[in-house]
Amino acid sequence: MHIPFFSKKTNGSNGNGFVISMEGIKKIYDTGKIKVEALKGIDIKVKNGEFIAIVGPSGSGKSTLMNILGCLDTPTEGNYELSGEKVSKLNREELAEIRNRKIGFVFQNFNLLPQLTALENIEMPMIFGKISSAERKHRARELLQRIGLEDKEFAKPTELSGGQMQKIAIARALAMKPDVLLADEPTGNLDTTSGSDVMTVFSELNSLGSTIIIVTHDLALARRAGRIIQLKDGKIEKDAITENGK
Ligand SMILES: Nc1ncnc2c1ncn2[C@@H]1O[C@H](COP(=O)(O)OP(=O)(O)OP(=O)(O)O)[C@@H](O)[C@H]1O
Ligand SMILES: [Mg+2]
Repeated sequence: MHIPFFSKKTNGSNGNGFVISMEGIKKIYDTGKIKVEALKGIDIKVKNGEFIAIVGPSGSGKSTLMNILGCLDTPTEGNYELSGEKVSKLNREELAEIRNRKIGFVFQNFNLLPQLTALENIEMPMIFGKISSAERKHRARELLQRIGLEDKEFAKPTELSGGQMQKIAIARALAMKPDVLLADEPTGNLDTTSGSDVMTVFSELNSLGSTIIIVTHDLALARRAGRIIQLKDGKIEKDAITENGK
């Protein structure tokens, strides 16, 4: 079945074919009294259509890296290019603009708006993105179908399970057709079965062309990605393709 919305993108990467290119990324948190070197020189290149899991002990810098990848924060040093645009030097406003256009973010605690239905939650970023009402509904229903929750269109978050809420959050993150989908511990609040279910949704979206990067503590889930990047103490300890990798 051909679903135009999910067809593989040919844009979204620079001339080298990398959607993400990081070189020498350092992050120092300066709280006045103490300085924490959270990232100590990170190099990562990501091709369009990759599915990457970032793993590592607590405090190793995973969220710091995700926040920089997602343009929520800037590095102290180093270069970051997102689909050909240098983002490491941008100011807050410029970052927000890039973030809205190129990044879909999924959070551990779903962050759905409780008063809105599943469909309306998915529509939300498209309202900010000034997409017409008809197109919004069309895209949101297509996404609901893709995550297998077309029967939950009118359900409020309180009427959904954790796994279902996270799938709605994933659909919402994809609504503006981002270049990259980022998720920091997306299964952290879910039981094993729901977590595995959510991972299956990521795998399916990836096989349809989405570039996905997730952080997880769960090695069994990480192995289902195509590549695992292991962080330790602010550095990359290992970066390897899995048996699912292309
Ligand atoms: N806003 C901040 N201000 C100061 N230090 C910070 C800040 N955020 C993170 N850190 C420090 O940076 C280091 C990396 O933190 P980070 O949150 O990136 O780790 P993590 O790998 O995501 O850990 P976890 O698995 O517990 O979520 C830690 O030493 C942390 O204490
Ligand atoms: Mg973290």
